[in-house]
Amino acid sequence: MPVLEARALAKTYLSGGAQVRALDGVDLAVERGEFVAIMGPSGCGKSTLLNLLAGFDRPSAGEVWLAGRRIDGLSEAELARLRRRQIGFVFQFFNLLPALSVAENVELPLLLAGQRRQAARRAASRLLNDVGIAERQNAAPALLSGGQQQRVALARAMANSPDIVLADEPTGNLDSAAARGVMELLGEARQRGQTLLLVTHDARVAAAADRVIRLRDGRIVANGRLEPVRAVPNLLDVGGDE
Ligand SMILES: Nc1ncnc2c1ncn2[C@@H]1O[C@H](COP(=O)(O)OP(=O)(O)O)[C@@H](O)[C@H]1O
Ligand SMILES: [Mg+2]
Repeated sequence: MPVLEARALAKTYLSGGAQVRALDGVDLAVERGEFVAIMGPSGCGKSTLLNLLAGFDRPSAGEVWLAGRRIDGLSEAELARLRRRQIGFVFQFFNLLPALSVAENVELPLLLAGQRRQAARRAASRLLNDVGIAERQNAAPALLSGGQQQRVALARAMANSPDIVLADEPTGNLDSAAARGVMELLGEARQRGQTLLLVTHDARVAAAADRVIRLRDGRIVANGRLEPVRAVPNLLDVGGDE
């Protein structure tokens, strides 16, 4: 059974009176432990897909299944509960809460999942140590570099040991050293058996994936291991956007 599945998934936005078909019938099944990269030009629907899969947004049509359970019709509260237990989400621009310290940002999902404050604090400390930010625990996120903030965002996404990690261009704003660091952390998550679904423009990131899915105009235009995709030159025109 796939751990995450989209069936005929569609999303239409209303923008200034016009309809924007952001996602147009996407079928996708991700197996447990798989590392899938999603690529495609700016505006092709990558973030929309990730947001729908995580239940941050509702599809206009189609279905989302998480570990054999249909989730697109669940209430906000049920979705939040599922996310807390099963899905770690890394936002493109980190989305750390500016009023909280680095440590508090990582503690928050643990507290929301019902952990006691002491235990949450210890776990956050350990996570921040793992991502190499231990010495900045008490700082405000804004005082950290982009690479450091992305590491904190990753620690936060990993806090509840989610089965699935969804990340929207997790290396998009980072220099290559910081990007390597983030990829190492994601690689470790995969070693632990976590499922990874990453939106990326980075050919090196995609090269590490089991499978690359290429979107264009809200549809999947390629879906396979990197070698066959690479054999068709213009299917992997990475770096072509933003
Ligand atoms: N909240 C929204 N309201 C209106 N249009 C949106 C909204 N979010 C995304 N879109 C549009 O949907 C399309 C897909 O966007 P997005 O999923 O963000 O693409 P990508 O992440 O691949 O760059 C784009 O045309 C974008 O302008
Ligand atoms: Mg996007």
